Amino acid sequence: MRLSLTSLLGSSLLGSLLVSAACTSNTTDTAGLQQLIQAGGEGYKLQLCAGQIYEISEQLNYTALNQEISTEGYPIDDTRATLKMVGFNKTTSVQAQDAGLSGAKLMNIQINGNRLESEDIYTAGGGNIEFGGQNQNQIIEHVRSYDPRGWSCLHLAEGTFNCLNITVQNNDIGPCGRDYFQNWADGISLSCADSLVQNNVIVDATDGGIVVFGAPSSVIRNNTISVQTRTMLGGINMVDVLPWLPEGNFSNTLVEGNTIHGGFATDMGNATFGSNNASAIIKIGIAVGPDVWFSDGRYGTNQSTGATIKDNVLSGALAYGMGVSSAKSFIISNNSFTGNTSFIGTYGPNCTTGTKTPHEPVALLLEPSSVTDLTLTLPENSQFQFVNGTALGLTCLMPPSGDFWPYGDGFNSGAATSSGSGDATTTNTASPSASSGSSSTPTQGSSSSASKSILNGSPSGVVFALTIGMIAGLITAI
Ligand SMILES: *[C@@H]1O[C@H](CO)[C@@H](O)[C@H](O)[C@H]1NC(C)=O
Ligand SMILES: *[C@@H]1O[C@H](CO)[C@@H](O)[C@H](O)[C@H]1NC(C)=O
Ligand SMILES: *[C@@H]1O[C@H](CO)[C@@H](O)[C@H](O)[C@H]1NC(C)=O
Ligand SMILES: *[C@@H]1O[C@H](CO)[C@@H](O)[C@H](O)[C@H]1NC(C)=O
Ligand SMILES: *[C@@H]1O[C@H](CO)[C@@H](O)[C@H](O)[C@H]1NC(C)=O
Ligand SMILES: *[C@@H]1O[C@H](CO)[C@@H](O)[C@H](O)[C@H]1NC(C)=O
Ligand SMILES: *[C@@H]1O[C@H](CO)[C@@H](O)[C@H](O)[C@H]1NC(C)=O
Ligand SMILES: *[C@@H]1O[C@H](CO)[C@@H](O)[C@H](O)[C@H]1NC(C)=O
Ligand SMILES: *[C@@H]1O[C@H](CO)[C@@H](O)[C@H](O)[C@H]1NC(C)=O
Ligand SMILES: *[C@@H]1O[C@H](CO)[C@@H](O)[C@H](O)[C@H]1NC(C)=O
Ligand SMILES: *[C@@H]1O[C@H](CO)[C@@H](O)[C@H](O)[C@H]1NC(C)=O
Ligand SMILES: *[C@@H]1O[C@H](CO)[C@@H](O)[C@H](O)[C@H]1NC(C)=O
Repeated sequence: MRLSLTSLLGSSLLGSLLVSAACTSNTTDTAGLQQLIQAGGEGYKLQLCAGQIYEISEQLNYTALNQEISTEGYPIDDTRATLKMVGFNKTTSVQAQDAGLSGAKLMNIQINGNRLESEDIYTAGGGNIEFGGQNQNQIIEHVRSYDPRGWSCLHLAEGTFNCLNITVQNNDIGPCGRDYFQNWADGISLSCADSLVQNNVIVDATDGGIVVFGAPSSVIRNNTISVQTRTMLGGINMVDVLPWLPEGNFSNTLVEGNTIHGGFATDMGNATFGSNNASAIIKIGIAVGPDVWFSDGRYGTNQSTGATIKDNVLSGALAYGMGVSSAKSFIISNNSFTGNTSFIGTYGPNCTTGTKTPHEPVALLLEPSSVTDLTLTLPENSQFQFVNGTALGLTCLMPPSGDFWPYGDGFNSGAATSSGSGDATTTNTASPSASSGSSSTPTQGSSSSASKSILNGSPSGVVFALTIGMIAGLITAI
């Protein structure tokens, strides 16, 4: 649109020119911030001040095309301004989902959902950040989102299936939710099509690290997902056959080159395993197909359909590295394990409420009877192969108690640095540095990985399965 002199002198544009000179300080209350966005109109940038905390009583709404909320100077560290939700019974801090909000940007800011230690999840309401909807070309980058009161740290909604092309990159996400029943929250919940989710670091989300709701033609790549203080149900989930239609439409969605780290030992045990002071595992590294998640058959014979999952790398303690069931026309190739791993879990009470009890923990689980047209290839020298078995309701597994966690890179440092630092190492592990047992010397060579399963039937029917790859520097690339 060409600007006329009249519109240039219009009060709203003039207003935005005036306030763009300096950041808006946190003496401005929520209504005042909203008023600036409203008055600023199209293209307005609300620049918050570095180092300041803005206690907001209700969600800030984008109101016109191409608006931005960011911290002045675009810092990427803890000096990013923080929006802290303090409103009674409110869950969302920023919203850009109404029609006419294409090009919205949220950049270099922190969103503290402010769910208190003592609080249960707020079951009504949305995620910390609600973007997408009936819009295109939005951007979320260098944003830290944590402690949502609701179900997600970052939700990108499908709108009326016309959401397109959101870019979500270089964000640090988590913690999100708690790891007790139905108090979980996602890291990133992607339901907008044609979108790009890359280079994000997600620590301690408790539901899915990244949940892909179909989101046809999206690319999810080079994200790092790990656990430190709480158990995560799924690293990357492709289990939701709704909302995109026909049910299970994941067509042309690509999940590639992501790193998923389950828990590592925080305390010494024996030469190969230690305990984890949070009992943190990822139950399913990559979950494919509704049955893997939902044990009640609520989606009938629907299948997740049409995506490619390749070049992802897993490590640490997981119940299952990948679980695949009720999937169609998926290409699943060159996904590998690195460093030390263990596949652990005990059958929880809800493992017996479905029609079938899941297969015991294992690196790669496939339920062949429920899949169609699957292209399944592993790296040539893969330590693990797909095992056929029941892959129904795998989130019912519980972290075991005991010394079952593998040692991470430089024992006790774990795989990921503290949340918020925006960095996580993806390098291979060395041998456990604090180990005293001579028998722990890692074997060299890709064919000699120490791989074992331990079935431990306790009186309560507890089953463990453990496997470890003790090959220092093993890269399962071909
Ligand atoms: C503004 O931010 C500063 C720095 O974090 C904080 O100490 C102060 O309480 C905040 N003021 C208001 C009104 O929220
Ligand atoms: C943002 O929009 C919601 C929904 O319309 C509304 O309830 C809320 O009050 C708005 N936020 C502000 C700060 O006005
Ligand atoms: C909290 O908000 C939800 C709607 O978002 C509403 O259904 C619920 O009644 C509210 N709870 C309280 C205690 O006000
Ligand atoms: C997608 O959105 C980004 C960010 O706004 C923009 O740079 C890019 O041109 C868009 N792509 C298409 C195909 O519109
Ligand atoms: C992958 O993501 C990390 C952030 O976790 C980033 O530092 C790195 O540059 C990204 N790699 C590529 C190739 O973009
Ligand atoms: C999946 O959804 C996309 C986007 O709406 C659509 O273009 C495509 O036709 C759908 N796939 C099938 C098999 O219907
Ligand atoms: C758990 O272990 C980690 C790694 O040693 C340590 O940083 C953390 O403080 C411990 N947490 C608790 C609650 O002991
Ligand atoms: C697919 O799931 C929907 C619920 O979303 C259900 O209504 C429908 O019956 C299912 N279709 C099949 C073939 O099971
Ligand atoms: C397999 O995946 C690994 C890890 O992402 C990557 O380094 C390697 O290049 C991939 N191999 C092939 C043949 O694409
Ligand atoms: C099992 O499911 C029931 C509800 O069906 C729930 O109350 C209980 O907390 C669940 N148990 C576990 C360990 O998740
Ligand atoms: C798994 O089942 C498929 C299909 O029934 C079969 O082709 C394959 O050989 C089985 N794999 C193993 C390891 O038993
Ligand atoms: C280490 O401890 C685990 C769990 O207690 C056990 O299963 C494993 O056999 C032990 N390994 C060695 C080498 O003692």
